[in-house]
Amino acid sequence: MIKHQTAPPASLDDVKGWFPKIDQMLFTWFLERQERLGETGDLVELGSYLGKSAILMGRHRRADETFTVCDLFDSEAPDDSNQAEMNGSYSSLTRTAFETNYGAFHDRLPEIIQAPTSVILDHVEPESCRFVHVDASHLYEHVSGDIQAAHIMLPAGGVIVCDDYRSEHTPGVSAAVWEAVAVHGLRPICVTTQKLYGTWGDVETVQDELLEWLQKQDNVWHEVQQVAGRRLVRIKGKWAPSSEVQRLKDRLAKAQDKIARMEDRLARTRDELAAVRGSVSFKVGRSVTALPRALRRRNPGS
Ligand SMILES: C[S@@+](CC[C@H](N)C(=O)[O-])C[C@H]1O[C@@H](n2cnc3c(N)ncnc32)[C@H](O)[C@@H]1O
Repeated sequence: MIKHQTAPPASLDDVKGWFPKIDQMLFTWFLERQERLGETGDLVELGSYLGKSAILMGRHRRADETFTVCDLFDSEAPDDSNQAEMNGSYSSLTRTAFETNYGAFHDRLPEIIQAPTSVILDHVEPESCRFVHVDASHLYEHVSGDIQAAHIMLPAGGVIVCDDYRSEHTPGVSAAVWEAVAVHGLRPICVTTQKLYGTWGDVETVQDELLEWLQKQDNVWHEVQQVAGRRLVRIKGKWAPSSEVQRLKDRLAKAQDKIARMEDRLARTRDELAAVRGSVSFKVGRSVTALPRALRRRNPGS
């Protein structure tokens, strides 16, 4: 279970969550591109946790735009499977912790819907958004509904980002995302290790501009693949993700701990052996076992 910090964070790195550097760069690129092109519209995040991605998205909300986040935070989930997810991964999450984090970076909180994401269309108008981040439940039924809601909230040129579209522990998300691609016309623009970026609008132009920008990035690797006859850009940060570095550090610390314990056991075994060797009973035992051998040597035929 992740322990939540109590002091307000000083930088985005201090906010716990799941928002790799490469995705921070891409969110910034997509949102700045929309600003450059004069595209207006609201921002929506389904699943905010402690605010890591919301804080970055909030930087791009213009004065006349609304940023809406929807999360259960510390309220009941709508079904048992969703509640099991909440208990397993977000049991100590509170709305207050989100608000404290968000408030450390922004003067104004976003519109907060503390409810299941299934109610989002009661609060957000169709085709009113330019950017929707889908990052709430990992269960197929929920994610499928979240993507359908995003389709309604976004006009054709809007951008949807789906988290955990390929993680080993989230097959339901993969099923919902690729179903949206294969059946509901979602066009993937690019993918990172964790997120898929797509649109229901023109994909070629945005990909061309993205590729031009990627050429100039030193710390970003990319390639172009064809998937079912469509171009798809694969992107990776060249630096190790902080979660990966932390995982390796944890493994190293555990291994060092194990070595220290084994050395300790070895030292204790040596001490015990030395004590046994020096004991009277050991010496008597040795002389008893040594006696028949000495006799055998003296009487080799016997
Ligand atoms: C993976 S976390 C979000 C991570 C966050 N975007 C970040 O950058 O760190 C998923 C969030 O979805 C919320 N959640 C799970 N099921 C939900 C549901 N049915 N409706 C609304 N929120 C839900 C959880 O409370 C949790 O905060």
